[in-house]
Amino acid sequence: MQTLAINGGPRAVEKLTPEPPKVGLEELAEIIDLWPLSHEAKAGINRILDAESPAGPHMFRYYHPDGESVVDKAEQEFCELFGCTYALAVNSGTSALMAAYVACGVGPGMEVIVPGYTFFATAATVVAARAIPVIAEIDDSLTIDPDDIADKITPQTKAIAPVHMAGFACDMEAILEIAREHDLMVIEDCCQADGGWYKGKRLGTWGDMGCFSFDAYKLMSSGEGGMVCTDDEMLYVRAQSWHDTAACWRPDRYARERMEGELFCGENYRLSEVQGAIVRAQLRKIDQKIKHLIANRNRVRDGISADEFLGLQMARDNDPDGGAGTDIAFFCPTAEKTRQVIEALQAEGVPAGGIYDQSVRDWHHYDHWEHILEQKTPTTEGCPYTCPYYEGQLPDYSEDMCPKTLDYLRRTVRVSISASWTPQDCAAVSAGINKVAAAFLL
Ligand SMILES: Cc1ncc(COP(=O)(O)O)c(C=O)c1O
Repeated sequence: MQTLAINGGPRAVEKLTPEPPKVGLEELAEIIDLWPLSHEAKAGINRILDAESPAGPHMFRYYHPDGESVVDKAEQEFCELFGCTYALAVNSGTSALMAAYVACGVGPGMEVIVPGYTFFATAATVVAARAIPVIAEIDDSLTIDPDDIADKITPQTKAIAPVHMAGFACDMEAILEIAREHDLMVIEDCCQADGGWYKGKRLGTWGDMGCFSFDAYKLMSSGEGGMVCTDDEMLYVRAQSWHDTAACWRPDRYARERMEGELFCGENYRLSEVQGAIVRAQLRKIDQKIKHLIANRNRVRDGISADEFLGLQMARDNDPDGGAGTDIAFFCPTAEKTRQVIEALQAEGVPAGGIYDQSVRDWHHYDHWEHILEQKTPTTEGCPYTCPYYEGQLPDYSEDMCPKTLDYLRRTVRVSISASWTPQDCAAVSAGINKVAAAFLL
């Protein structure tokens, strides 16, 4: 009988063939192939390829061979740039909202106040967290109306979710005052205002938690992706638990619960290392982009003489030098006039559009959120609308429950601003607006 290895004999298996890297050069070449490349860019890539290691990248943010992953670094760099204590990278803005609601303790029996003008995700995640979305009016800043928030607070209200929509900052001072008075959590939806400002402080760092999206249409993009930020350790740990199938906190993934409330079952919202790498590059560029956007937004605004002499009603900026600068907006007297003005602006070459067209399905205004208005749920129990823990009066969901919101949206003309415009481009856009306003709005 052969001596067992355990007793000092030879090992039966000396060496097994290692697995090739799961993601290697072939995949890298496919990703690079997405870009139309110049000679210079190809030369730069060749330099990187020359340093090729057979190991291939580690794609999972945890158990990283270097100790620190690229996603870890992206989170640290986000904290430094945004001036917050904790940042958690996630795989979408929707995931960011969901993790934030769960972290803040939003759940059965509770209400969250959301604006009637936002991408549906702000409200849908309230329902997914098993709470009741209460839809509030917007005001002439095209963001949530603080007065309507105050009117909609009930004993069931747990949180407010202001949305910095289309780069316009909400009136955070007024909202925080209401929240403090009623002991409510504030979860900022910054998905359309990545990197923007309000009164000298970054959007997303005013409330208890800030939520960001890096999807393909946002100011920062990693294809899909997002970030949650906070200054509160417990909120961060709870968001982290939820985002990683309850694998909970780091560095010790298998530790027992340290603080009551940090350990519970969750989902999987982890960001991959590829997206983390893109987020790092985007973080390096965002400030320049926002600076140019705000400067160009202000140039276009300043060039609109119609504001003074034609009675053009501009959307109010809660911070004229803040927001993210992606849009300017003004109101026409009627929906019909709005349509005509948009057509005329487009004919002038001004990148204008409307916000509201009843005939077009659009998840950005509440009257199309039939999932909520008709209380549609994935199972027949009707949770959360039938929840026995809910002791409130369900909102009277209907398409015309926020008439002020619909009125503003129907009469809004939006002009998109680009960071790459020159002062001449801005002047031309202002001139186009003045020309059309003089013809239509006198
Ligand atoms: C205001 C707002 N909130 C949330 C989201 C959701 O972000 P994501 O697409 O990354 O899930 C979006 C995306 O369009 C948005 O515009």
